[in-house]
Parts: sequence; C-alpha cells; structure tokens
Amino acid sequence: MNPRWRLTADADLRSRNTFGVAAHAPWLVEVGDSSALGEVLALPEFRGTAPLVLGGGSNLLFAGDPEVAVLALDTHRIEILEDDGSIAIVRVDAGVQWHALVLWTLQQGLMGLENLALIPGTTGAAPIQNIGAYGTEVGEFVHAVETWDRSAGAVTRLDRASCAFAYRDSLFKRVPDRYIVTAVEFALPRQRALKLDYAGIPEELQAMEVDSPTFRDVAEAVIRIRSRKLPDPAVIGNAGSFFKNPIVPVALAEELQRQHAGLPVFRGDAADNRKISAAWMIENCGWKGYRDGDVGVAASHALVLVNHGSATGRQLLSLARRIAESVHARFGVAIEPEPKIIGAIW
Ligand code: EPU
Repeated sequence: MNPRWRLTADADLRSRNTFGVAAHAPWLVEVGDSSALGEVLALPEFRGTAPLVLGGGSNLLFAGDPEVAVLALDTHRIEILEDDGSIAIVRVDAGVQWHALVLWTLQQGLMGLENLALIPGTTGAAPIQNIGAYGTEVGEFVHAVETWDRSAGAVTRLDRASCAFAYRDSLFKRVPDRYIVTAVEFALPRQRALKLDYAGIPEELQAMEVDSPTFRDVAEAVIRIRSRKLPDPAVIGNAGSFFKNPIVPVALAEELQRQHAGLPVFRGDAADNRKISAAWMIENCGWKGYRDGDVGVAASHALVLVNHGSATGRQLLSLARRIAESVHARFGVAIEPEPKIIGAIW
C-alpha cells in the first residue's frame, strides 16, 4: 500500500454520507498528502474522468451509485502563515473537520467563524457552497483557496475575488469538475464587530444571561440553537437544509407577503431581489414532521429531510420532488435542492 494514498474497490459509502443511505463507488481513493493528487488522478481507475470528491458527505444525496471513482482527502494540518496582531492568515487542509477548525479559532482568539459553529462537513467543502449561517458566509473570511486544477494539471491558488462567492454558490459550483480544493486560507481578525442581529441570536444570549457577549458566547449561542433545531446526523440521517431559500425579484416577494401573511423575507444578493423562507413555505404546505416509512421531514425544521433508518436515496429524492411541487403549486416559486444529487437529475 502506498502511504500517500489508499485505493479500495467497490467501496461502501453508507458511513460516508450523513443521510446514511446505501451507495457503492467503483473505487475509493483516500489521499493523505495532497501533493500526490497528480499521481493519483493519473491512475487507470480514474480513466481520465473527474472523480467525485467527498468531504464529510454532509451536502450530498446518493440517489444512485456514483459511476466514477470517489476521492477523499485525509489531510489535517492547520497553520498560521502570518499574524500581524490584528489579522492572522491561517492555512487549513481540506480534510480538517469544519467544527474542529471553528473551535481551534476560538481558542486562538481569532474571530469571524463564530456564527458558523457546528456546521457538519470538512473545510475543503466549505468554500464550494459558501457555507453560511446566522448572518455570516464563509466567503467573507476566505483569503485564498488552494486547489488542484485538473485543466492545468497543477496546484492553483485562487484569491477570494476569483472564487466568486454568492449565496450557497461559488466558482467551484459553476465549473464543477475543474478544481479539487486542497486547502483554504482564511483571513481572521482579532477584533471585529460581532454579528448579533440574526433572529434567535439575541434571544439565545439573553437566555444564557450574557449582557456583553464575546465571540465565544456567540459561538455558544449558535451551538445551542443548532442543537435544538437541526437533527444531529450522527443520530438521524440528514444533510442540513435540503432546499435553498429562493431569491426572487422584490416585487414578487412583496406580492407573496401580501398574499401570505407571515412569510419571512430577507435581504437578497442585490438591491432588486429578496430571499424568501423555503422552510416557511414548506411548513405552510403541511410537510413539517411528515413521515412515510423511513423518509420524512424533521419535526424541528421544515428544510431538513431525514432518513429515519433504512430510507434509500431514491425515496428521499422522490419526497423532495413532491415537496417542491407542492410549494410551486401554492406559491408559484421553484425551490432548488442545496445538496449535490448523485445518480439522478433534479
Ligand atoms: N421557519 C419556518 N419553519 C421552520 C423553520 C423556519 O417557518 O420549520 C421560518 C422561521 O420563521 C424563521 C425563518 O424560517 O424565522 C428562518 O429560519 P432559520 O433561521 O432556521 O433559517 P433558514 O433560512 O431556514 C438558513 C440556512 C441554514 C442556517 C440557518 C441559520 C439555507 C438554505 N439554510 O436556514 O443552513 O443554519 O439559515 O442561519 O440558507 C444548511 O445550509 O444546511 C443550513 C442548516
């Protein structure tokens, strides 16, 4: 066995996806050193095709088996590259668990990631869908992303602007098979104004009896809210929010609010659009807490599809389609899945 990478045939992926559904890959390559990627991708098992890169498996649904080889980066270094006392540049290997990184930054006195505590998955996956929660998106703190560029056959470092971050979106989603994220550099301040305005955070801090919160208190508040609202994938299979909040023109958002009192509307990604709450629309269609056999919708959050035990990816996809159809029928709005769907087309 090569110590820099390990190849397994007919690999079982059930424990590698947080939905916990059955799936098999023709090959799984675990890479312990990203400098081996050129060599690994030249293996005959890849047949020149793009591999499916798996992070924590927390943002994908196996509706079928992947036809291509699966690649997982088993790399775990965190290093401070520069620190001028006000901002530190931290380089983190793609394989580092996201929440472990957040805890490390809290210990180091580095701010920025506190609102993103307890998000499942790996650091390498974070920039791909620009993970976000409680008023913060990771793209705000990304300094650069180091990748293996399959087109160039070389390591490429992309600065933040080149990553084109948007709501649950980035360059890496728009050019899906080109880049394999090998490490992320973050620019993390030692002082910043805390982001406390997202609904639920002030209430949680009050319940914690904290008057002048520190960034560690904010992380604690986020952990408490998430633990209450979002089912733990280690206990019940899920991939967090299954749907993105749709972004619609301001006029449509206002019209929907007139027709449906209580529909939450948030700032969009431009002055002329708004983000509307998919969870609210799904709940309004009666799906929250729904269960049919082992597939269902979490009772604590309408955006979260769950596997109660032995659901298949196909069954989960079929439920997701029924939910999207009912939201479309009632609100006239198309909702799109957030996780990557393997083996089927949405
Ligand atoms: N709501 C409902 N029913 C529900 C849940 C929520 O009506 O079952 C309404 C509430 O009125 C609430 C509003 O929806 O005010 C927003 O709810 P929440 O704060 O939970 O946020 P969200 O828009 O549903 C997004 C992210 C989550 C992230 C939270 C908190 C997306 C797709 N999801 O959810 O991210 O944790 O905000 O910031 O943007 C994920 O991406 O996997 C994820 C969990």
